[in-house]
Amino acid sequence: MARPKIALIGAGQIGGTLAHLAAIKELGDVVLFDISEGTPEGKALDIAESGPSEGFDAKMSGTQSYEDIAGADVCIVTAGVPRKPGMSRDDLLGINLKVMKSVGEGIRDHAPNAFVICITNPLDAMVWALREFSGLPHEKVCGMAGVLDSARFRHFLAEEFQVSMRDVTAFVLGGHGDTMVPLTRYSTVAGIPLPDLVKMGWTTQEKLDAIVQRTRDGGAEIVGLLKTGSAFYAPATSAIEMAEAFLKDQKRVLPCAAYVDGALGLKGMYVGVPTVIGAGGVEKVIDIKMTKDEQAMFDNSVSAVQGLVDACKGIDSSLA
Ligand code: APR
Repeated sequence: MARPKIALIGAGQIGGTLAHLAAIKELGDVVLFDISEGTPEGKALDIAESGPSEGFDAKMSGTQSYEDIAGADVCIVTAGVPRKPGMSRDDLLGINLKVMKSVGEGIRDHAPNAFVICITNPLDAMVWALREFSGLPHEKVCGMAGVLDSARFRHFLAEEFQVSMRDVTAFVLGGHGDTMVPLTRYSTVAGIPLPDLVKMGWTTQEKLDAIVQRTRDGGAEIVGLLKTGSAFYAPATSAIEMAEAFLKDQKRVLPCAAYVDGALGLKGMYVGVPTVIGAGGVEKVIDIKMTKDEQAMFDNSVSAVQGLVDACKGIDSSLA
């Protein structure tokens, strides 16, 4: 049986890391697409040349032509510009919306059966626009943010509790921005919810609040350190986790920017929610019940996302 085909639209920092991870994990043959001539070809060749040492046979190629993504099973989109220090993700909206139009049309024309994972920021608005431009079924287009935000939260919690990251679960809802909602009630160490750990004296509420804030600012912290771009190792790893869930029909329960119509009181919009990802794409949105405070934070996040979607409609009248 032929290997699955993975198309990576955007061969920058995240795109290159995605290709390397997909190769090492032998998830499939990889096509890197980018408008920058030589970049996808160079990265593909460099990664292919790591094959003998790493021991993979997956094929790597680079292209500037959408025809080469034909028949892709998975498309992961990172095309666009990342932020620089002092910029918010929302500052990228105008430029990246234009990029989503060309990428969406490329996927529509050449890989309409793919499971599409968008990473380009501002995430929730870009995944919505990408879905509109591509016309693919909603369950086959989603955005990577929740896995990354939860991973950051889990990392900080594991450091605080001095336990393995594997034993920490975390739950982050809402848009991928300053308004994201890390839900402490649903985050645990080996099943023990964080509020109980505070009561047990493992940490203090102040420390927990600081970790929640650091999670919200997780992307900006890295932009501030790198100065020339944004995070790429953890974002790529998170998207690969989602792609693997689809390709292997794992039915993973993962938070992602999914189309929600009915659940959580939402009517037809993309925002970060817990989902089940399997061979059908986003197979289910989990309709959790929130407390009053959590609901207020979530509503605030939803309005921020809605504001960005409205701004997209203002920029491109075909979306209105
Ligand atoms: N089509 C295809 N590729 C494009 C297009 C386009 N229309 N426009 C830009 N690109 C390519 C660039 O040539 C570049 O190689 O997208 C790539 C983006 O790579 P980087 O600048 O290295 O950015 P990266 O760190 O990978 O982040 C990409 O993900 O997390 C988000 O905010 C981040 O929106 C940004 C995206």
